[in-house]
Amino acid sequence: MKGIILAGGKGTRLYPITKVVSKQLLQIYDKPLIYYPLSTLMLAGIKDILIICAPESIEQYKSLLGDGKDIGLNLQYKVQEKPNGLAEAFIIGEDFIKKDNVCLILGDNFFYGHGFSKYLQEGANLKHGAMILGCKVKDPTQFGVIEVDNNNNVISIEEKPAQPKSNLAVPGLYFFDNKVIEIAKKIKPSKRGELEIVSVIEEYMKQKQLKANIVGRGLAWLDTGTPQGLKNASDFVQIIQNAQGFYIACLEEIAYNMNFINYEQLKKLGELLKQSDYGQYILKLEKEND
Ligand code: TTP
Repeated sequence: MKGIILAGGKGTRLYPITKVVSKQLLQIYDKPLIYYPLSTLMLAGIKDILIICAPESIEQYKSLLGDGKDIGLNLQYKVQEKPNGLAEAFIIGEDFIKKDNVCLILGDNFFYGHGFSKYLQEGANLKHGAMILGCKVKDPTQFGVIEVDNNNNVISIEEKPAQPKSNLAVPGLYFFDNKVIEIAKKIKPSKRGELEIVSVIEEYMKQKQLKANIVGRGLAWLDTGTPQGLKNASDFVQIIQNAQGFYIACLEEIAYNMNFINYEQLKKLGELLKQSDYGQYILKLEKEND
């Protein structure tokens, strides 16, 4: 399975912070925001990843993450000229996806919680159709909301409904089979002029090929699109890291745990960052019994 991180957009809810800096380069405690969705794809076992961003920020993403080889990844980059909607990712990414299935994650989606890797690996094992997540939220009116039957088939999806049919919101992490490219090419822009991901998901639903994985309690799915959201996510990372000593979204550690790199490579990466706590954390990681 291939992965796409959609890191374009204008980030207008964060103006003036995002007037000259891409949202996904902003700081969440001790790392750039994009580390978090990238870590999610890595935990799903995905190594071929396309980063789609606005034209003015592509060089910055390239200097931050490079070709990804040092952490065992194949990272590629493409530009989205304008924020024409999430579903445009599959059109921009067509040559990258080729004949594979694909996981799309929005660059500003933050996930953390016990057992989350299990959901990711289920998604990454998808053979046909599409899989989305359903996360219980207090106020579903601000989200895409799904209704599911007893077998977790999705039977309705509504964007920001005034009267939600459930409290299951859909986060920005989706698994699709290869049909998604053709579906994305066929959908029409919405009233706000965007190629909506909901239109793609609806097409899978009509074909009865849309499953939801309902995530239990204990998963933190945080919005980082507003100043308060950024601060909350930063505080969350700081609290967990300081209390447990485990880092959230340490890419080098995940690459090692997923066997993308070996212990010697991990230590070399730690050396390069040894002036920071992040680098020191990598240097202190112990060798797993293999
Ligand atoms: P949004 O939060 O919908 O848009 P935004 O990031 O531009 O923020 P704002 O609402 O404050 O203006 O986007 C969700 C994520 O998807 C975010 O990481 C940016 C990304 N995105 C794109 O890369 N391209 C797009 O066309 C859109 C709509 C979003």
